[in-house]
Amino acid sequence: MKKKKNFGFATKTIHSGASPEAITGARNVPIYQTTSFVFDNTEHAKRLFSLQDFGFIYSRLTNPTVSVLEERVASIEKSRASVACSSGHAAQQLAFIPLLNNGDHFISSNKLYGGSINQFSKTFKRFGWNCDFVEPDNLSNFENSIRDNTKFIFIETLSNPDGSIVDIEKVAKIAKKNHIPLIVDNTLATPYLHNPVDWGANIVTHSLTKFMCGHGTSMGGIVVDCGNFNYLKDNKFPALSKPNKSYNDIKFSETFGDFGYAMKVKADSLRDLGCSLSPQNAFNILNGLETLHLRMREHVNNAKLVAKFLSSHPQIYEVSYAGLKSSKYYKLAKKYMPEGPGSIFTIKLKKGFKACIKLVESVKLFSHVANVGDTRSLIIHPASTTHSQLSKEEKIKAGAGPDTIRLSIGIETVEDIIEDLDHSLK
Ligand SMILES: Cc1ncc(COP(=O)(O)O)c(C=O)c1O
Repeated sequence: MKKKKNFGFATKTIHSGASPEAITGARNVPIYQTTSFVFDNTEHAKRLFSLQDFGFIYSRLTNPTVSVLEERVASIEKSRASVACSSGHAAQQLAFIPLLNNGDHFISSNKLYGGSINQFSKTFKRFGWNCDFVEPDNLSNFENSIRDNTKFIFIETLSNPDGSIVDIEKVAKIAKKNHIPLIVDNTLATPYLHNPVDWGANIVTHSLTKFMCGHGTSMGGIVVDCGNFNYLKDNKFPALSKPNKSYNDIKFSETFGDFGYAMKVKADSLRDLGCSLSPQNAFNILNGLETLHLRMREHVNNAKLVAKFLSSHPQIYEVSYAGLKSSKYYKLAKKYMPEGPGSIFTIKLKKGFKACIKLVESVKLFSHVANVGDTRSLIIHPASTTHSQLSKEEKIKAGAGPDTIRLSIGIETVEDIIEDLDHSLK
């Protein structure tokens, strides 16, 4: 049999999942702006509804524009399948539902986007899902928190806001030893800089809103099934291993094999929660993905230069960028992201909170927004915004103290970025 060609990253970001449209020859992916799709006959409809055939029914579940995006992201994450949805937060909810029952437990790194800490510790708690947050630099914290009802470990590869790095290969070994999946939020690294599956992750989530879309235009999220976890092995994951009443008693993992988890996320979780991605947003994100490799190179190159400049600035006492030799994450950065650890990091100002506010209000090129991963350079004071709902202690643990500013370095001319910061700091 002819071996399947393994295309390069850039080729995949431009072509995976798409070919010219069969009837019109349209070269770009059409925006299928329709709620529903006409069935061939009643037998066809029945087969689609019972998952005996793959095809399009209704855009809450499946839509051709969204499907291209799903195939493309699965391809660049070197994974089996993926399910797109309306935001990164929606992706986390969709990802967890097949794994957790009321009363179950999971472990998360405490170095996370503040919104995720909130989502896990408050809203998810009301679902009966209990999360222990652990300090990820000490790996035994993960091991020591595992209980009989622990269903997965969750980490961010590069954490928001400070760009610190978790030793993913070692965490994956702990998860494997205990037969639970490792879920990785790869939003800040993107598949260009890092593929969690290479280091043992089983499920990847993304906020597509950030670098993957890349232009600050569209919200989106995705759950990626790496296809490398056996949900049938014990009785830990009944939603995947036991008969499903809605679909003629099929067992998702048995019927769909290495993409059973993705099918469950789509056919059950997305169907019932309805947090679908719109075709227009899928199109915008696909356009963004086509230049992901070019943009990430520029983001990283600019971030390295800006971090270096700031690390010797008299107003600043700490720059968290893991690409600096002085960072305690430098070695991990070299191992897991050899091209560079992204373009989001924090700086700590000697003159504290008031100086942070002054800086945010003085910059001209930077935009003061609650987003990261835009082509534009962005700035925010996390403790009073993105991480404001956390306790004082949680803020410090998450790297969002009162004297801390988060920067998301864009792809403008780097001298202009540096000048804007230097001028404003002065
Ligand atoms: C690392 C990370 N994960 C998830 C999210 C949530 O994504 P969204 O805003 O698309 O819901 C964010 C948002 O900032 C994030 O930074």
